[in-house]
Amino acid sequence: MHVKQLLSLENKIILVTGGAGRYGKPIVEGLAEAGGTVITASRNLAAGQTLTEVFREKGLDVHALQVDQAEHQSVLALKEQLKAQFGGLDVFVNNAVARPMKSYNAPLEDWIESMRINATGMFDITREMADLIAGGGGGTIINIASMMGMFGPDLSNYEGTDMGEPPPDYFFHKGGMITLTRYLARVLAAKHIRINCISPGGLLSDTPLPARFLENYNKKVPLGRMATHDDIKGLVVFLASDASVYINGENILMDGGMHA
Ligand SMILES: NC(=O)c1ccc[n+]([C@@H]2O[C@H](COP(=O)([O-])OP(=O)(O)OC[C@H]3O[C@@H](n4cnc5c(N)ncnc54)[C@H](OP(=O)(O)O)[C@@H]3O)[C@@H](O)[C@H]2O)c1
Repeated sequence: MHVKQLLSLENKIILVTGGAGRYGKPIVEGLAEAGGTVITASRNLAAGQTLTEVFREKGLDVHALQVDQAEHQSVLALKEQLKAQFGGLDVFVNNAVARPMKSYNAPLEDWIESMRINATGMFDITREMADLIAGGGGGTIINIASMMGMFGPDLSNYEGTDMGEPPPDYFFHKGGMITLTRYLARVLAAKHIRINCISPGGLLSDTPLPARFLENYNKKVPLGRMATHDDIKGLVVFLASDASVYINGENILMDGGMHA
């Protein structure tokens, strides 16, 4: 098959959770630019619809639905909607994240809330979407984890800022997501589903970051900068497409060489 055909996402129905978020936007855009029909889903439907309008003006086939991945009934309702409106699902991008815990010393309730969404909810939506993909004969799942699921925090990045240490729950559930990818790569293969993970580094987005943090961080990256909008697009398209059919259970670090 021609490589352009292998990389094409024409006729693929793709769900991205948290598509209106920072990494979500380029992920949705890249998948739609490669020809996919992309549905973003999160709790705030209005945010998804606003994103949809922007991308539709560019001629992209993007839709918005609502889901709270921490609520089983909401996940089941999304599954039914995908079946009814789009006939099923080919690709699921597990991108949503909640950050209720703010520091090492935050109340235990914040850790519990984080696990409700980022661990239990994340597993629930993955299992239900895998079931939907399997019903259509197979497809692929891409987990968006983080370099923070692979390495401990580099506290020197926060020197000279009032950012404090990064919250521990994030390292725990992102590490879990990478290991769950390996588990599911074996368990879901019989259903013709392959699953891979992307572990990105920090993204330079509209959220302002302290100048000192940027200075500290950029010094550690051989490419000298944080990730920007376009950096994840090619990788997510590759993993969603038939160009990566023999890649399964892999975790790809995308950190500009920070940990090389
Ligand atoms: N930003 C970075 O620098 C960075 C670095 C490495 C890895 N990552 C990874 O990239 C992914 C996206 O991160 P981000 O920084 O783009 O996050 P973000 O801007 O905070 O967006 C997160 C999205 O998740 C959705 N969400 C939160 N709770 C939800 C729930 N219960 N059900 C459904 N959707 C929910 C939110 O939408 P609603 O509020 O509408 O629900 C939001 O759109 C995450 O997996 C993160 O770990 C990010």
